Amino acid sequence: MLFLLSSPVLFPLILHFLSLLPPTSARQDRSAPRDIHALSADHLRYLAEADPPEWEGTVEGHLGKLLIPRPVGSKNSTLVQNYISSVFKRLGWHEEQNPFKSETPIGELDFTNLIYTFDPDAPRKIIIAAHFDSKYFPDYPANQFIGATDSAAPCSFMLDLAEAMTPLLQSRRDRLRNGTGILRDGFDEEDAGETTLQLLFLDGEEAFKDWTNTDSIYGARHLAHKWSESFLPPTHPLSLSARRFDPTPSVLSTIDVLVLLDLLGHRSPRIHSYYRETDWLHGLMSSADKRLREAGLVEVESGEEGWFSENRYGPGMIGDDHVPFNQRGVSVLHVISNPFPNVWHSLGDDASALSVPAMNRWNKILRVFTAEYLGLAPESSASSGKRIPEDGEARRSADEL
Ligand SMILES: *[C@@H]1O[C@H](CO)[C@@H](O)[C@H](O)[C@H]1NC(C)=O
Ligand SMILES: *[C@@H]1O[C@H](CO)[C@@H](O)[C@H](O)[C@H]1NC(C)=O
Repeated sequence: MLFLLSSPVLFPLILHFLSLLPPTSARQDRSAPRDIHALSADHLRYLAEADPPEWEGTVEGHLGKLLIPRPVGSKNSTLVQNYISSVFKRLGWHEEQNPFKSETPIGELDFTNLIYTFDPDAPRKIIIAAHFDSKYFPDYPANQFIGATDSAAPCSFMLDLAEAMTPLLQSRRDRLRNGTGILRDGFDEEDAGETTLQLLFLDGEEAFKDWTNTDSIYGARHLAHKWSESFLPPTHPLSLSARRFDPTPSVLSTIDVLVLLDLLGHRSPRIHSYYRETDWLHGLMSSADKRLREAGLVEVESGEEGWFSENRYGPGMIGDDHVPFNQRGVSVLHVISNPFPNVWHSLGDDASALSVPAMNRWNKILRVFTAEYLGLAPESSASSGKRIPEDGEARRSADEL
């Protein structure tokens, strides 16, 4: 269950309160928009059409493996974890399992967060995250709750993204290793290569009874705390640079931004921008969607145009897995449909709640967004047999997108 603060009175109070807090360096150093090199039209098409292919139904591929009841600590949860792990092992990513026990209203349970990083030695990262647990219900038939939008579909987007990005990340790594990194037009691949991609699958987002501070977001609370106490070695580039406000940088300092996906995969989501400092990233994602639509690379269902709201910071804040990270100074882009899907926390949140065109569209939006954020252009994919023009890259800042 998610806790929605939408009171017009509360929201300004919260903003006021936040503005009184001293800025943390994690926020200060990285909130500034970075230069984004927009993908050319050819690269956009290449990425949209890259493997894995579009889905034709809701039960094929990764998603089919995730669409089972998978409450915390269940056998089905283990099956889902093993499946996710197998995908990343095949792709050659670094895996960190983060198991822990916690008291819950139904007793002590075993939780596991799953953390996958393409390059664990990179000093910085963008994290894309979703929760893989489904909400626990004690009795039949409610205990067959699937949580298709909540958040099986977002987890499957992350698996698609890992597959689509791996060849691009690999060829960048090869170029940087053999000294042929791209350097042109204000773009230095060596700099871009300092930021890697991490995909985070959180356990125990859902409350077992009613959403409270202690009965919700178990995995996120555990991990944010753990990372805040995991200090970087003195040789880490972030330790070496001047850190006036943050003399002992932790793993949290290595996070450029946490992009949290939740309640997605159905038709007509409404995506608002909740944080001033990541509004430019909301704009970047919205622009990716717009360019994909204009190029005819995504199927737009009737009555569906833009999903990304122009209203800024209007709809209040939504309690979710990002909160314990954000409270410790991590920048957050919260990609959640608001209003929630109308099947929310009901048995109706199963495969029938999902829209195949919407999910294919999300997969492509996330590919473009991630590639542009990381400065990954698919030019090195010549080995796949597709010819990609080397030139004609427009250099634009996020503001101009
Ligand atoms: C585990 O998943 C299967 C579907 O594969 C489902 O039929 C079964 O009820 C689930 N088990 C529990 C305990 O929820
Ligand atoms: C460097 O790596 C890239 C990417 O794999 C490859 O295309 C290129 O041929 C390599 N160059 C040299 C000189 O080995």
